Amino acid sequence: MQGPAMSDQGAVANRRMLVSGNWKMNHDHLSAIRTVQALGLMASDDDLRKVEVSIHPPFTSLRSVQTVIESDDMPFKLGAQNCHFEDAGAFTGEVSAAMLAKLHVEYVIVGHSERRVLSGETDEVVRAKLDAVLRHRMRPIVCVGETFDERERGSTADRVEAQVTAAIAGLEEEATARLVFAYEPIWAIGTGLTPSVPEARQACDLIRSVVAGLSGDGASRSIRIQYGGSVNPDNTREMLTATGFDGVLVGGASLDAGSFAAIISAAARAG
Ligand code: PGA
Repeated sequence: MQGPAMSDQGAVANRRMLVSGNWKMNHDHLSAIRTVQALGLMASDDDLRKVEVSIHPPFTSLRSVQTVIESDDMPFKLGAQNCHFEDAGAFTGEVSAAMLAKLHVEYVIVGHSERRVLSGETDEVVRAKLDAVLRHRMRPIVCVGETFDERERGSTADRVEAQVTAAIAGLEEEATARLVFAYEPIWAIGTGLTPSVPEARQACDLIRSVVAGLSGDGASRSIRIQYGGSVNPDNTREMLTATGFDGVLVGGASLDAGSFAAIISAAARAG
């Protein structure tokens, strides 16, 4: 597979920033429609040319958001927050990657820490979901990150390396190249805390080097790595300019169209 063009500095020239809004369990289908329509009015065309944007509503709002995006020709990508690894079967309450692909979903978050912690998702389950998303030609956004205790013990790098390794070991280089990783320190999610720029840069570099070691330099240059955890319009630009990240995964601040549009704009200025 042909990798993206490289500039003199070694940065990837044609890899667009990816700004993703993870709505978690917020917005019913009516408020989802209103929010996407408002975002379509607030986000500038210029920003949306520079930055790719994915919106990840709850399952119950996916169809409504898909219809709004497609009928109004909005430049937003449809995203999901989770999926099951089997295509169909006796799995009460689950939704398969196959079903998401049918709805024109393009990005699926896998291994979000809330699912790892609250729903007991293991690295093996996360890997099976990643495989299912790739099988249906969508792109996984694979979340990795350490807990507060792991950070205090100095084991951030070990944790992140183990999660990245479990996610991609044995995966073809071409498949790995399609991935998005999101570095989300668990202690930073919804707390207003963020890692320092050197800490964030270290985690970003680590993910890229683990991918290079396991899947090759081409894959390592092609993957995109987002930062996630208390992203807001004020910290987006710094997080993107000083660290090597290729975008942000936004929780709380993506629920309001105005603040999400401001984050998109900050990312466009950082790109
Ligand atoms: P937050 O959530 O932006 O509300 O901290 C981020 C996430 O969990 O993806």
